[in-house]
Amino acid sequence: MESYFERAKLKFENLKNKTDVIVLGIESSCDETSVSVVRNGTELLSNVVSSQIDIHKRFGGVVPEVASRNHVMAIENVFNEAVKEAGIKLSDIDAVAVTYGAGLIGALLVGVNFAKALSFGLDVPLIAVSHIEGHISANYITHKALKPPFICLLVSGGHTALLKVSDYLEHTMLGTTIDDSVGEAFDKVARILGLEYPGGPNVDKFAKLGKSNIEFIKHDILKGTLNFSFSGVKTAVINYVHNLEQKGESVNVPDVAASFQSFVVKELTEKAISACKQTGLKKLVVAGGVSANSYLKERLTELCKENNIELYMPELKLCTDNAAMIASAGCYYIKKGKGLAGLDLTGSATVAL
Ligand code: KG4
Ligand code: ZN
Repeated sequence: MESYFERAKLKFENLKNKTDVIVLGIESSCDETSVSVVRNGTELLSNVVSSQIDIHKRFGGVVPEVASRNHVMAIENVFNEAVKEAGIKLSDIDAVAVTYGAGLIGALLVGVNFAKALSFGLDVPLIAVSHIEGHISANYITHKALKPPFICLLVSGGHTALLKVSDYLEHTMLGTTIDDSVGEAFDKVARILGLEYPGGPNVDKFAKLGKSNIEFIKHDILKGTLNFSFSGVKTAVINYVHNLEQKGESVNVPDVAASFQSFVVKELTEKAISACKQTGLKKLVVAGGVSANSYLKERLTELCKENNIELYMPELKLCTDNAAMIASAGCYYIKKGKGLAGLDLTGSATVAL
């Protein structure tokens, strides 16, 4: 008798040529438990996200073990809700796509194991999706006509890079951070300013109330390259704040937030535009949690207009972690014949860029 995996291989191959493909996506790499149903990579049928932000807030950041336990408690209800909201029958699901990495290993394993049981139970292929490919794919849902090639500015909590995306799931790296990711820098600066977790959105909020009038570091050590460095500015902000505190002076939180944010956004935008110019690609796609930053959006909109570049950013709800982007990516994995996983699939803390 054929095994589950032999049947899955055959079904996976047949899905390549199917016109209507429904993928159920699962995401649990950090502090969001999410399940979504997407048709043909672009059509969102449901996207249920259960956030643990309020649970982790009191610790000032994500506590991995607490995250895993909460994923276990949430995932079944999130799944049921996503299927109900999509208005589909379980037998309509063609494949299950799950984030296998990068992320917190215990958290990832909850989604991976749920996905394994589900694909086995439904007798459909299981697809192992990279969280990075997911973030890029969020844009295919928001912008239905978007197709590669394009330049991708990847700005998440775990990664910061400029990628030349030549086709679905195919890219080369043009530049990356040599130290912290931009999301990490936002979160650390928020913490030093006493702003609640998650830091990025709070820095964004406070920056709107302040002026960019503090020069934390003078020049970009990586000028002329497409690489980034954010640990220098982060340390400069920490030193600036400590210095004032030692002197008993108060810190102008909105001004510090605005000054830090404008430095970071200048770096990201200038290099993203340079990457477009150097490659001759006139499309810029932004991916990852920091794409929710309002000032980044404002500056990119202006600069892309000036330079005649088309700008694509995910709608706000798809900027940060969600399963819709994983289900969308799953569809492109099918079309490309990539990512088919067996029931031995496990999580991975890192993925290659
Ligand atoms: O992509 P993401 O949800 O998780 C990873 O895949 O790593 O990104 C999370 C990061 C966090 O560092 C968070 O502070 C940041 O995205 N972030 C923001 C904003 N919203 C989320 N950073 C700046 N401004 C925002 N509005
Ligand atoms: Zn993410």
